Amino acid sequence: PHIPATLIPGDGIGPEVVEATVKVLGALGAPFAWDIQQAGMAGVAQSGDPLPPETLASIRKHGLALKGPLTTPVGGGFRSSNVRLREEFQLYANVRPALTILPGRFEDIDIVLVRENLGGFYVAHEYYIPIGDDPRAVAVSTGTNTREGSKRIARFAFDYAVRNGRKNITVVHKANILKALTGIFLEAAREVAAEYEGRVTMNDMIVDACAMQLVLNPQKFDMLLCTNLFGDILSDQIAGLVGGLGMAPGANIGSECAIFEAVHGSAPDIAGKGVANPVSLMLAACMMLDHVDLPDLAQRLRDAISATLNIDQVRTGDLKGSATTEQFTDAIVRRIIAS
Ligand code: NAI
Ligand code: MG
Repeated sequence: PHIPATLIPGDGIGPEVVEATVKVLGALGAPFAWDIQQAGMAGVAQSGDPLPPETLASIRKHGLALKGPLTTPVGGGFRSSNVRLREEFQLYANVRPALTILPGRFEDIDIVLVRENLGGFYVAHEYYIPIGDDPRAVAVSTGTNTREGSKRIARFAFDYAVRNGRKNITVVHKANILKALTGIFLEAAREVAAEYEGRVTMNDMIVDACAMQLVLNPQKFDMLLCTNLFGDILSDQIAGLVGGLGMAPGANIGSECAIFEAVHGSAPDIAGKGVANPVSLMLAACMMLDHVDLPDLAQRLRDAISATLNIDQVRTGDLKGSATTEQFTDAIVRRIIAS
């Protein structure tokens, strides 16, 4: 192995899907040398911090990480570890593809959503204004989008389109109401689109109309470029078009560092039962293989996942199957060995 990378088991079903993913990567002969680090509740247990300094140092050193979901403890004053990681490493782009592998309610979905990962309402400058004897009579939340940040994510999306042979980007906004916050985002996207004329086309859609069109005509979408909050919501929606959160990978990318993860959380309702669907994290590992320029290995893993689901019909419970995580993972390993 010669590509060092941080591996974070995470919380809840995290260690289960991480183990499954490491197993299939091993069967593929993927050249990652894992530096195992704790975060989330395991981080709190280790050092009182859901993001221990050792973990941050490891990610900074390798610039590459595969991470299980992290539970954000409610109360206790902890901010979301995911938001902290994105800020710490300036992971400004969140790439969330939705591709039909197992046809279900919808077929032939192939959408790549790019979400601005640092700004918008996730800056979450929130406060209350007291009136009379009610200290929390009014709640205020402000969002921030910069012109530079908006252009940077637009450029990322258009470059991604060029590199991956994608033809159209739909910019999602609410510039009719949030004229400043999402208007600047749309304006920046239009400016950047002009630089790509003849290579990638751009249209724009108001977020609510887009949500409806994604259900009525999902096949007509190629790429979506979204502000932070809209991207968070629509990425779960497009995950639903391809079988749910068990089928949805994501990559958080900055100029110096990239962290690959599943879109889903720690799923406390099924944690420890050995029934989680590991496909999301496995597809995140495929994105990681693409990222380190090993697309052939990524494709072999995608093919093995598809054959296991479609031909062998081995599936976990969320896909109406009866396989445990381990049985499903072993079926993929057999497919990889045979490929
Ligand atoms: P969740 O994604 O953990 O679960 C939602 C539902 O989907 C549950 O019914 C769960 O069983 C199911 N599900 C999720 N992943 C699955 C899988 N791989 N296979 C089968 N079923 C699966 O969302 P929830 O419950 O809102 O959040 C739980 C915790 O996860 C919270 O503490 C939250 O902060 C955290 N979280 C962390 C994320 C991350 O680290 N990237 C992302 C989202 C939530
Ligand atoms: Mg989300």
